Amino acid sequence: MSQRVLTGITTTGTLHLGNYVGAIRPAIEASRVAGVESFFFMADFHALIKCDEPARIAHSSRSIAATWLAAGLDPERVTFYRQSDIPEIPELTWLLTCVTAKGQMNRAHAYKAAVDAATAAGEDPDARVTMGLYSYPILMAADILMFNAHRVPVGKDQVQHIEMARDVAQRFNHLYGQGREFFTLPEAVVEAEMELLPGLDGRKMSKSYDNVIPLFEGGAAALQSAVARIVTDSKLPGEPKEPEGQALVTIYDAFATPEQRAAFRAALRGGLAWGEAKAQLVALIDGQIGPMRARYAALMANPAELEAILQRGAAKARALAAPLLAELRRAVGIGAFTADAPQQHAKVEKAALPVFKQYREADGRFYFKLVSAAGELLLQSQSFEQGRDAGQWVARLKREGWLADAPATLVADEATVRAALAAFAED
Ligand code: TRP
Repeated sequence: MSQRVLTGITTTGTLHLGNYVGAIRPAIEASRVAGVESFFFMADFHALIKCDEPARIAHSSRSIAATWLAAGLDPERVTFYRQSDIPEIPELTWLLTCVTAKGQMNRAHAYKAAVDAATAAGEDPDARVTMGLYSYPILMAADILMFNAHRVPVGKDQVQHIEMARDVAQRFNHLYGQGREFFTLPEAVVEAEMELLPGLDGRKMSKSYDNVIPLFEGGAAALQSAVARIVTDSKLPGEPKEPEGQALVTIYDAFATPEQRAAFRAALRGGLAWGEAKAQLVALIDGQIGPMRARYAALMANPAELEAILQRGAAKARALAAPLLAELRRAVGIGAFTADAPQQHAKVEKAALPVFKQYREADGRFYFKLVSAAGELLLQSQSFEQGRDAGQWVARLKREGWLADAPATLVADEATVRAALAAFAED
């Protein structure tokens, strides 16, 4: 069976070289592999969570779409769309919202960071939190589950969101599936490359550090002036230089063949001037990016062409989304009063549930364990001084699902425990 891979980019800025090397280039390469069905989209609903500048969002959305295409994405081969062109996504978001535990959202990193920042500033903890920010992981789950993606390439900071999507999917499947799996459980794929590209100052390339090399914006001149600002050591021309650990060399590597990498290192060790090394880096990058930049400029100058491509993509995406959503609506009991709508007498017996057992050992301490419906041990707690503490952990695990910091040891694998815990969150 083919593997579905799905990637979204939030439309709040323009892309830099780190995005190209870490996300766009590997995603496009992966989309050319036989047996892979790729989904690429502009996450413009997500942009509204952190940006209230319409012109910026509109420009970003257009620029990111043009970037994907200029970088070689084939819209005939993949499904390429704008999130907001798929009304099924916000509708699915609501269905998922209604089966998502609030306690689980309380643990989302982005929300917690906003609370911490407000608290540190002496403000009300929720002063900086909109419901959009709070519910962000559910919208992201809908993006992924709508197309039953198997794999989602993301940076480390997004892994938690994929786990939440899995939990929500399991809960929905369990509650409404009656044995059917509506949703595929997605897996995060964290590529080492995604973390790799340093910026001008050697830290990770990121808009928030103001250390980026733009991808297309500003043309060759902007590329050149950014490269000129890459921080190096102060060795003079002719002095031998140690290439390892230099941001300049790491960036060079991202565009070079193994032979070029070796030759560049040898030249630096032989005294190549930093200025000359920078000129070589610009030439190397521009050899690959230059031709794409021309295509980018043409697409940016012709919004009608770009729009037509996205409309075809939206039609393709909706052809998959609409039938699934129709089934989901029927499964939850909303929609037309047709003969196959769920009937009251048709409510099937609930599947047998796993159970938590709380007990006290001869050592006088308290314990709990989770046992599957079939009687198999899934989770064993540590011991507690107070029975009440054991009880509180049981309640939390039922409510929030598996927590890595729970004072308990996984006996079964984590996915099995997560699936078992998902069964509790329904009532
Ligand atoms: N939240 C992601 C980010 O900020 C963007 C995104 C939205 C996404 N929906 C997605 C990524 C679905 C992967 C899958 O990077």
